Amino acid sequence: KTVIGVLASGRGSNMQAIVDAIEAGRLDAKVGVVISDNPEANVLKRMAGSDIPAVCIDRRQFVSRQDFEAAVAEELNVRHVELVVLAGFMRILSPYFIDRFAGKIMNIHPSLLPAFPGENAQQQALNYGAKVSGCTVHFVDEGMDTGPIILQEAVPVQEDDTVETLSDRILHAEHILYPRAIALYCEKRLIVEGRRVHIIEKSEGLQ
Ligand code: GAR
Repeated sequence: KTVIGVLASGRGSNMQAIVDAIEAGRLDAKVGVVISDNPEANVLKRMAGSDIPAVCIDRRQFVSRQDFEAAVAEELNVRHVELVVLAGFMRILSPYFIDRFAGKIMNIHPSLLPAFPGENAQQQALNYGAKVSGCTVHFVDEGMDTGPIILQEAVPVQEDDTVETLSDRILHAEHILYPRAIALYCEKRLIVEGRRVHIIEKSEGLQ
């Protein structure tokens, strides 16, 4: 089984969707550790009582970003993590960290990239007047939400949407999309060629 490490800063619903997909047999992976940079994060409360290790690495306890990232990397290495999954992780990772896990970091973003990168993507879509938004799972590179796209799902923007109703509709799609993207990685079905991520069909012989 591929060992994944989840980095999350907040609510943790995507983390939960990943754990649920593993339990339901839709994703053949193991969560080796959940790391939050925020001691107050709901994601840590969700982990209470679970046998998955949950660790808080508080950014405020480190002088520099690199010291903080070194501690995160160390924790991931100790847990033998093979794929780093950002699930509502609200910090930008430096090239130092990204190089250490080159090609092995995924993120989910609540828009159809390259539209509306960065913070408040759902509000950006409403402000722009987009009729369709959605979510994107992508590999992380050194830019802001710029890495090679793995999967996307479109979600309609409705006439009476508020940021809350649109975010909920997108989140529902995220919970299906992220475990699927992680499963493709774990099944070694993703081939990255420049910006393009090719998805290898499941061959008949394999199950
Ligand atoms: C999700 O909507 C995710 O796409 C977004 O934060 C939310 C986290 O929810 N991520 C970003 O905006 C990253 N720039 P969760 O904590 O319930 O998974």
